[in-house]
Amino acid sequence: MRSLGVSLLLIAGASAIVDKFNNNLVFRSPFFDEPQFGHDTVALSRRTLQFTKRDQVPAGGFKDEKYPGFYVSDLSNAPFIWSSGVNFTHSVASGDPYDTSVILWTRAVPLPSSSGQLPDQSVPVCVSYKVFAESDLSGKPVDSGEAFTSYDVDWTVKVEATRLKADTKYYFQFTDCANPSVSSPVGSTRTVASSNTPADKVNGGKPMTLAVFSCSQYQAGWFNAYGYAAQNTTADIFIHLGDYIYESVGNGAKIGRAVEGRELATIHDYRQRLGQYRSDPDLQYAHQIAPWIVVWDDHEIANNAWKAGTSNSNDTAQGCTFSPSGACFTDRKLAGTRAYHEWMPIRQLDAKDQLRIWRNFQVGKLFDLSMLDTRQYERDITDLTYNRAVIDTLKDVPQRSLMGANQERWLLDTLSKSKNRRAVWRIIGQQIVFTQVVNLSGGINLDAWDGYRANRNRILDHLYNNQISNTIVLAGDSHANWVSDLAHANDTVNYDSATGRGAIGVEFAGTGVTSSSGTFTKGNLTDSMAVSAQYVNKNIDLQWNEGFFRGFFTLTLDSSALNATYYSMRNVTYRNLDAFASANFSVKAGENRISRPVAGGKVLSGALKYPAN
Ligand SMILES: *[C@@H]1O[C@H](CO)[C@@H](O)[C@H](O)[C@H]1NC(C)=O
Ligand SMILES: *[C@@H]1O[C@H](CO)[C@@H](O)[C@H](O)[C@H]1NC(C)=O
Ligand SMILES: *[C@@H]1O[C@H](CO)[C@@H](O)[C@H](O)[C@H]1NC(C)=O
Ligand SMILES: *[C@@H]1O[C@H](CO)[C@@H](O)[C@H](O)[C@H]1NC(C)=O
Ligand SMILES: *[C@@H]1O[C@H](CO)[C@@H](O)[C@H](O)[C@H]1NC(C)=O
Ligand SMILES: *[C@@H]1O[C@H](CO)[C@@H](O)[C@H](O)[C@H]1NC(C)=O
Ligand SMILES: *[C@@H]1O[C@H](CO)[C@@H](O)[C@H](O)[C@H]1NC(C)=O
Ligand SMILES: *[C@@H]1O[C@H](CO)[C@@H](O)[C@H](O)[C@H]1NC(C)=O
Ligand SMILES: *[C@@H]1O[C@H](CO)[C@@H](O)[C@H](O)[C@H]1NC(C)=O
Repeated sequence: MRSLGVSLLLIAGASAIVDKFNNNLVFRSPFFDEPQFGHDTVALSRRTLQFTKRDQVPAGGFKDEKYPGFYVSDLSNAPFIWSSGVNFTHSVASGDPYDTSVILWTRAVPLPSSSGQLPDQSVPVCVSYKVFAESDLSGKPVDSGEAFTSYDVDWTVKVEATRLKADTKYYFQFTDCANPSVSSPVGSTRTVASSNTPADKVNGGKPMTLAVFSCSQYQAGWFNAYGYAAQNTTADIFIHLGDYIYESVGNGAKIGRAVEGRELATIHDYRQRLGQYRSDPDLQYAHQIAPWIVVWDDHEIANNAWKAGTSNSNDTAQGCTFSPSGACFTDRKLAGTRAYHEWMPIRQLDAKDQLRIWRNFQVGKLFDLSMLDTRQYERDITDLTYNRAVIDTLKDVPQRSLMGANQERWLLDTLSKSKNRRAVWRIIGQQIVFTQVVNLSGGINLDAWDGYRANRNRILDHLYNNQISNTIVLAGDSHANWVSDLAHANDTVNYDSATGRGAIGVEFAGTGVTSSSGTFTKGNLTDSMAVSAQYVNKNIDLQWNEGFFRGFFTLTLDSSALNATYYSMRNVTYRNLDAFASANFSVKAGENRISRPVAGGKVLSGALKYPAN
């Protein structure tokens, strides 16, 4: 036990304890001030205090021999905070940068004492954090504080660093309050420009780079894409569009990527899986060096999730039988989303709504980044395989919604506000492919926007009717690359596929970090390119398609152009940084289409609709 913590306790009493629990935002999730749904930090403080009551009588007035024996005189043994050491098991992370604040994350697991004891649940771990302007952590900290964590939240810590300067890089570290010599690795992060910063002054006047990821199944391969993005690009912010973890087990043993545990159902399962993923060195490093902005897709809970079920669990008696624990879908969803809030450096914007992760970032007047939840929040029923024929009959039903009414209204509003505040670009980060893709047997993917076509039309109509320019839609989920002009499906009157005339924006959909697509990887590269060629021939908006390689893409933007580079990882069956840029695209501000010739008419993989001869 340490005396600093105790003297602090003695001076400030119970409220200091509650503050330190509340400083760790994870305790506020899912519902701050709604203890019936989440962590009652007042009760947790009371629990801590109850065990330290005997240390509450100030010893100052007593000589040691007169100190009442009932109260232990040796304060170093008081079970107030854990003092036998902590392990920062998963390094550090940061996320959701604003102009003056950013979320910092770590995990501080108590180490057993010399006699092998671990703390009982009443004893929290205390960590302090400091934020510096210098990479060697010299000078006065720009912000600092202390926070408690406990077994209740899987020893995760999430604090908001505040009082920061806009558009500035920072370095941060967590330390065990009880053993100041024990610290986490140093993380680096940044803030973004404040919303009224002129577009050409954002990022100190240099273009900004966003690295965009999706679909990173552990057992499907090594996270080389994260490593490459972190080491071989200069990405300022990492964006993950979902399927960051998978609930399934699968056979990764042959490439050294077997997952622990079982198909995910309980809070323990989801925490264990997140913990295993985050032990990957490339993912850990990518989290350590830059802020992430993330949203979930289906697999953070389970395959083809919609608001009330997934393809293998729902709230029917039958749907509850899938798991050994008998967890029904709603239990699963609460467990999965709770673990996500614990482990991801994400802000919880609405304290009363754990499911609300849709949110907007204003980065000067250069861009708005609107992150959506088309999956878990209020999505109407999707293709669960056994119901496909029924869903096919529903795809044009006007009431069908991917986001729910509130979120959809918020999105349309946010796009209009972004135009009105004269932000140059509007980037929509969301899960599923937006543009129509008719597949090679004439079907469509009913689990993408194609299964919610009236909803798609509402978004496009809003852009066209309000003349909202420079909208860029991002998508993941599909495990392949699709680059398209944004236009109404099958509209050959207003939209010209050759020139891009009539389009209202661009979609950049990306392949998975590891998850593969059977459609494109059945044969060799030549076969895969032939499949892509058929896709681009069949779909008028689609300008480039590629599905052979795993990877990610970057967006580099300033006030005159937004450029996309697609990276292909050569081999994800072992850990390496071998990749190449398979295609480059440019979108000029005000043009609302991919610049022609698309990709300069030349790509290194996949198929262009109009390749240069
Ligand atoms: C700390 O955690 C890491 C990652 O889980 C583990 O490899 C290491 O053995 C732990 N250290 C101790 C002292 O337990
Ligand atoms: C619920 O899910 C099971 C699969 O676990 C499926 O067989 C069943 O048809 C579903 N029921 C409903 C009403 O969706
Ligand atoms: C095309 O889509 C339909 C409907 O989702 C699906 O049943 C079929 O398997 C798909 N075909 C190919 C070749 O992807
Ligand atoms: C566009 O045309 C294709 C046939 O080529 C059809 O399958 C698809 O349903 C049409 N899309 C819409 C939105 O009508
Ligand atoms: C790719 O596989 C096809 C058979 O599917 C074969 O005809 C072709 O020669 C192979 N191409 C290369 C470059 O290996
Ligand atoms: C985008 O690419 C073009 C070349 O295609 C280049 O001239 C321009 O500087 C690039 N802009 C940014 C922001 O990277
Ligand atoms: C990927 O690497 C593995 C292990 O070295 C090798 O067996 C495999 O052939 C490689 N695959 C490709 C497509 O090069
Ligand atoms: C990526 O960077 C690493 C060093 O950080 C280097 O070893 C590797 O060759 C680079 N990869 C490529 C494809 O340039
Ligand atoms: C894309 O641009 C990069 C430079 O940013 C270049 O190294 C690469 O060769 C380009 N790829 C293609 C296919 O043009």
